[in-house]
Amino acid sequence: MKLKIVVTAGDGIGPEVTGEAVSVLKQIGEQGGHQFAFEEKRIGGVAIVNDGTPLPQETLDAALASDAVLLGAVGGNEFNSLPPDQRPEGGLLALRAALGGFANLRPCFSFRELTVNSPLRAEIVDGADILFVRELLGGAYFGKPRAWDREKGVGYNTMIYTRDEVARVARIAFRLAQKRRKKLTSVDKANVLEVSQLWRATVEEVAGEFPDVTLEHQYVDAMAIHIMNRPRDFDVVVTENLFGDILTDESGVITGSLGMLPSATIGGKVNLYEPVHGSAPDIAGKGLANPLGAILTAAMILRHSGGLEAEAAAVETAVRKVLERGFRTPDLARGKSDGLTVLSTKEMGAKVRETVNELLAARV
Ligand code: NAD
Ligand code: IPM
Ligand code: MN
Repeated sequence: MKLKIVVTAGDGIGPEVTGEAVSVLKQIGEQGGHQFAFEEKRIGGVAIVNDGTPLPQETLDAALASDAVLLGAVGGNEFNSLPPDQRPEGGLLALRAALGGFANLRPCFSFRELTVNSPLRAEIVDGADILFVRELLGGAYFGKPRAWDREKGVGYNTMIYTRDEVARVARIAFRLAQKRRKKLTSVDKANVLEVSQLWRATVEEVAGEFPDVTLEHQYVDAMAIHIMNRPRDFDVVVTENLFGDILTDESGVITGSLGMLPSATIGGKVNLYEPVHGSAPDIAGKGLANPLGAILTAAMILRHSGGLEAEAAAVETAVRKVLERGFRTPDLARGKSDGLTVLSTKEMGAKVRETVNELLAARV
């Protein structure tokens, strides 16, 4: 298998966590005789400082010519006063739009060893396995008109969807549900918003193509509490861009840390892979970041861009085993480090590689 992967590490903990994810991929490439080539490109704050723009043309060209893009995170407090399109986050949104992927898959599964780490009781989160499908190219993020008119003292964005935009992401969610527990929850705010009424009606229409999948609808406010009270009841959850952004960070509570969550964006010209967390300026540069979300994101590259299911599963199993053996990054050991070994970002990456090595060696 040949893969050209563009790595846009970005800001804050981005380079720290993608460094570990890339090392895992390199090891798997070497072990399995795959040709994985990596090209590093700037995005976000680091690109603003060096190139005067959050998404340099060179980065965009390389990304479009690649098989997969692995992004760390973008953003930093020093850029907070810039308008949205000039900020680091604007660079990421422009990259998403250019790559064209509209279905952002954000799996959230609990690890038994981390249930003690969740503020929720173990019996609530143990066994939870939700796949969020977040629409990534529509809604308030991209809708026009949008502005902050300082003189008039008014700011606005437009949450807009077309029927086609909803139908295409709904189809992906239904297909994924067919391969899982055949349950799809669509999340909207159809009791208040017309855009959500369109969303709900379109999902209902698409449901006709998938009679084997059970569809339910939830309002986003109620969903925010349902995923905390009874996360095991959900299988695939499809929702619009902003609701998905919020619900998936919330789902970090189920896994025990935001640093555990991976994502893959499919459906466009080139798939984009990014952990769910941000640049975490509060812990950047200290070796404290949890690289497991980025490493699980690397597993998604193997699965969705490489078709390497066994290797992807080996990475996921390795993460599980490392946790079983008591290894933690500080975010996973908060107040509960008895009998655990707390590791730095790099040490955690090395542990995962060692374990992937064991697993793949045992296979041959
Ligand atoms: P954040 O996700 O960066 O951090 C939230 C909290 O979670 C912080 O306490 C942080 O220390 C912790 N955390 C996050 N990832 C972690 C990890 N891997 N290991 C351990 N702890 C981790 O969210 P924020 O603080 O609201 O945002 C910081 C910046 O990141 C902002 O500029 C924001 O726009 C940006 N951001 C970028 C992305 C992205 O690039 N994909 C995603 C979210 C936020
Ligand atoms: C995410 C982030 C991004 C988003 C920002 C940084 C543009 O929060 O990937 O979840 O809101 O989509
Ligand atoms: Mn987010």
